[in-house]
Amino acid sequence: MNGTLLQKFIKLIADYVGLQIREQDYDNLCDKIFMRIKSLKLSLPEQYYQLLKSQNKTSKNEWEKFITLLTVTESYFFRDRGQFELLKNVILPGIIKSKEASNEKVLKIWSAGCSTGEEPYSLAIIVQELIPNWKDWNILILGTDINEVALGKAREGIYSHWSFRLLEKQIQDKYFDKFQGKWKLKEQVKKGLSLTI
Ligand SMILES: C[S@@+](CC[C@H](N)C(=O)[O-])C[C@H]1O[C@@H](n2cnc3c(N)ncnc32)[C@H](O)[C@@H]1O
Repeated sequence: MNGTLLQKFIKLIADYVGLQIREQDYDNLCDKIFMRIKSLKLSLPEQYYQLLKSQNKTSKNEWEKFITLLTVTESYFFRDRGQFELLKNVILPGIIKSKEASNEKVLKIWSAGCSTGEEPYSLAIIVQELIPNWKDWNILILGTDINEVALGKAREGIYSHWSFRLLEKQIQDKYFDKFQGKWKLKEQVKKGLSLTI
């Protein structure tokens, strides 16, 4: 693909989904563009560019597929151990204490780029561990992502052992049920907390 067209793709992606493609990923991007071109049986990259650019239903559907290829959805429970330790031991206890003091039992947490759900569900687990009477609170944990396939998996809440590599067994048993060789998040984790993905 010529450099000018590649730059047009990069700008379109940045404008449409906010993803910044780094120079070292240009070859990878070209591979993904050509994968979609092949799948759609188009003959030229320019045709694919025009398809993405046209703001209609076909283009919207194609963006969903393209985004699935472009995004990296690696996730597991309590993935960034340092961040979660800070949230569990410092940030959330501080917020909870001040909310309790002002009798304003409202807590809202946003997992932006939540992928397959391990991050918002880790947050839900921490919140339930930190607030024994969490049912008396108005708690919203919001998970959002541009990758619709990942969001579908997040809503399902079913995970293989790989997602649990950092989770204590006792917490896994408490919040998940065995399900067809995998683990399914207990409904209680979603219910009451208003866990929206
Ligand atoms: C590597 S995963 C990280 C998932 C989770 N936050 C974690 O740390 O385990 C990055 C996620 O961010 C999403 N993402 C990237 N850019 C995004 C954007 N502009 N808006 C929403 N989600 C985005 C991707 O689709 C992907 O699922």
